[in-house]
Amino acid sequence: MTTEVPDIVLVSNRGPVSFTEEPSGDYGITRGAGGLAGALDWVARDLGDRAMWIAAASSAADRAAMRAGKTADLRSLLGYPVCLLDIEPVTYDRYYNDVSNRLLWFANHCLWDELGVTDFDAETVDAWTNAYEPVNKHFAETAATATGSDALVLFQDYHLATAPGHLRLLGDGRTILHFTHSSFCGPDCLDKLPDPIPRQLIEGMLGADLLGFHVPPWAHGFLRCCESVGAQVNHEQSFVEHAGRRSWVRSYPIPIDLEDLKERAGKGPARRWAERYKSHGGRLLVRADRAEPSKNIVRGFRAFGKMLDDRPDLAEDTRFLACLYPTREAMPEYRSYLGQVHRAALDVNDRHPGSIELSLEADFDRVLGAYLVYDALLVNSLMDGMNLVSKEGTAINEAAGVLVLARGAGSYEELGSQSVSIDDPYNIDATAAAMERAFDMRPAERSRRAEKLRAIVAGRLPQQWISDQLNDLQAIRAGLEPATPAQ
Ligand code: G6P
Repeated sequence: MTTEVPDIVLVSNRGPVSFTEEPSGDYGITRGAGGLAGALDWVARDLGDRAMWIAAASSAADRAAMRAGKTADLRSLLGYPVCLLDIEPVTYDRYYNDVSNRLLWFANHCLWDELGVTDFDAETVDAWTNAYEPVNKHFAETAATATGSDALVLFQDYHLATAPGHLRLLGDGRTILHFTHSSFCGPDCLDKLPDPIPRQLIEGMLGADLLGFHVPPWAHGFLRCCESVGAQVNHEQSFVEHAGRRSWVRSYPIPIDLEDLKERAGKGPARRWAERYKSHGGRLLVRADRAEPSKNIVRGFRAFGKMLDDRPDLAEDTRFLACLYPTREAMPEYRSYLGQVHRAALDVNDRHPGSIELSLEADFDRVLGAYLVYDALLVNSLMDGMNLVSKEGTAINEAAGVLVLARGAGSYEELGSQSVSIDDPYNIDATAAAMERAFDMRPAERSRRAEKLRAIVAGRLPQQWISDQLNDLQAIRAGLEPATPAQ
């Protein structure tokens, strides 16, 4: 497949690596974590000089390294060229924090009520118009300059939602993908944003030939938003016609890199954490998340507390290990949420001393150790694009652990049938009841479900995720329908 692929430009806010400033004055490099960077890195490596990755210099160290000419070294280190955009820091902050991670993230996850956001000031629209839009245009212009007119351009995520529209306005024949990695809630939540944001966002995305989402519910949310701005939607074939063009909408559920995960989970550091957690004895409930409101961590703790209150037998020997990575700490909503997380854990620990262990370090070996030995894994997100934790945990757990999974997680589409479901993640009683069901499940049933979950997760490779998208883009370029079916 790969030899037929024409030139490809990957465009994302975060690149495949970040620079760090070393005490020696030189620059170190850290690899981007997670499914997105890993899956795209595979394509870029395979294509070598026929691919390019465009990303923002997202920190002072990135900008300094870039000015020192260090991005050129990435060609030999990664096997493909990387182009970093030097965006003025105040503009970057408004594009990244104020618009992408606040307005768009909150809209995509329907967090307005959860976080009590009721209105927007003139500053909001100004950040959209004078930071988000110019940065998206800058990305589009860089993609246009860097490539020939027959390139495939793959824009990633909500940070770059309007870049497809900007590239389209540059009037070339490039075939454009936009992939949303988060959930996509629908018009009820998007329309809470002030004018002209909802319309410009949807029209910007419709500059793409193909819009990718992880699962059908998010694709449907997008299609409903298209209708609300007056675009023509064909639900059966899943395409949208607007401004004389057609955009196809498809779902591509992202898999995990199982081989990599297993290899690291087999090594000393992860095994030592696993031994440590096992040595406590008793039952272990685990969660591993970014400390993020959409993950619904506070209600998870309250539900756990309720389960222990109601079930003295479980209260005797059940511990909850929550591995949380602090994230987006520049945002007041996130800082305040972390405070609520601490208070909720303290509250439960006051009633049931030592029952919740909170780890706030980004230590993936610890998480792997916890995955290996959990008796139950809690994923009670309000909404989640995919949720890789539910896939990673079930793929390597060695204790026939049960997955307790909310319907709002994208992974519910694939894993829901073998999990204990949380139908309404806002409901603490229902969440507590789901945890109880997990701990009460008979060993034979636990093993049966764990085995099925492992088989589902192992059934798809990361390469397939991106190959499907590339094949569909090539079909569209040739005037055909995407091979991936509408759902
Ligand atoms: C999560 C989301 C992605 C998003 C990423 C941004 O992983 O699932 O949709 O692109 O966060 O990461 P950042 O570190 O920039 O907040």
